[in-house]
Amino acid sequence: MEHIGKQQVALVSDIADPGAREFELGDRDSRVPGFVVRKNDQVFAYVNVCPHAGKSLNWGPDRFLTKDNGRIMCAGHGSVFEIESGLCVEGACLGASLTSLDVEVIDGRVLVGLPTTVETKT
Ligand code: FES
Repeated sequence: MEHIGKQQVALVSDIADPGAREFELGDRDSRVPGFVVRKNDQVFAYVNVCPHAGKSLNWGPDRFLTKDNGRIMCAGHGSVFEIESGLCVEGACLGASLTSLDVEVIDGRVLVGLPTTVETKT
């Protein structure tokens, strides 16, 4: 995958804490659906594709979290993921992980980039 640099996907002040915001990254030829989650003033970003059956995770616009906002829950079949790591801790894809994206906050702007290679967490 070609590196396309970081793109602004939101202002951090526009995302509740905890809360989430979906976005699309890339250009006209290659769009990647993703979402950011803000928790304890940290921001995490993932591709919006569930490792179980490849569905989008959200229940509705910007709705990615469990009722208590403590974890990410897939609308497909209810798998639950840790916000900080993207690891599936409950459900059909137990032990699998969401694909994380490079993310940083600069001057209140949330910037996300596609890694040049698929990241694997150790
Ligand atoms: S597609 Fe996400 S739990 Fe099945």
